[in-house]
Amino acid sequence: MKIFAANWKLHKNPKETREFFAEFLKQVSPVADREIVFFPSTICLEATSQSLSSSKIKWGAQNCYYEAKGAFTGETSAQTVKDLGGQSVLIGHSERRAIFTETDELIAKKVSFIQGLGLTPLLCLGETLAQREAGETLKVLSQQLQTGLSKADKTKSLVIAYEPVWAIGTGRIATSAQVQEAHAAVFQNIQKLGFSSATAILYGGSVKPENSKELLAIPHVDGFLVGGASLEVASFKAICQS
Ligand code: 13P
Repeated sequence: MKIFAANWKLHKNPKETREFFAEFLKQVSPVADREIVFFPSTICLEATSQSLSSSKIKWGAQNCYYEAKGAFTGETSAQTVKDLGGQSVLIGHSERRAIFTETDELIAKKVSFIQGLGLTPLLCLGETLAQREAGETLKVLSQQLQTGLSKADKTKSLVIAYEPVWAIGTGRIATSAQVQEAHAAVFQNIQKLGFSSATAILYGGSVKPENSKELLAIPHVDGFLVGGASLEVASFKAICQS
């Protein structure tokens, strides 16, 4: 199974969301062993739910809180994502970590809460350029996995995305050797922590139609988490078909 996930970040309004899906559904039919998942911004989730209700394409939110409801102004309820028909929530994206100061401990609570609802957390990890240059990449990944998954249920579904921070939105793609080393390390860590060896590990960071085929051939690369290139039907379609 390969997974092609689109992280739209804070792009598109509900009208643009509906227009995208009307075109995408015309051009792309789901194929066996290939799953497509969209992560639109929170305010576009209802338009997404309606657009995809009769398709096999999955969707989810880009973040959530670790409570279903209450006095948590400005947060997103994973319970509401579930009620609308969503299956997944992105957790710990590097922009959440860097701009919104999310820690591995907070991320662990969210992972556990999402699994408890029967949804799939898509846990994002990755080193900064400074950490890579200091030779700390594998240590950072191991730490993010160990703490981020410390409250996770090993019997429930989970997806990991390795996204080197320096490759996100920069056009600077990690080399095949760097991706291979990081994915192998994530795979080993997941096994060591007792999670299923079938846990999918996606790669993210400047994935484009031009590099997706080569990246997908790397061992333990089970799909992609795509930012910029997922905003246009043509480029995301090409990646999904790589
Ligand atoms: P880009 O594909 O735009 O580099 O973004 C990657 C990303 O952050 C996906 O979550």
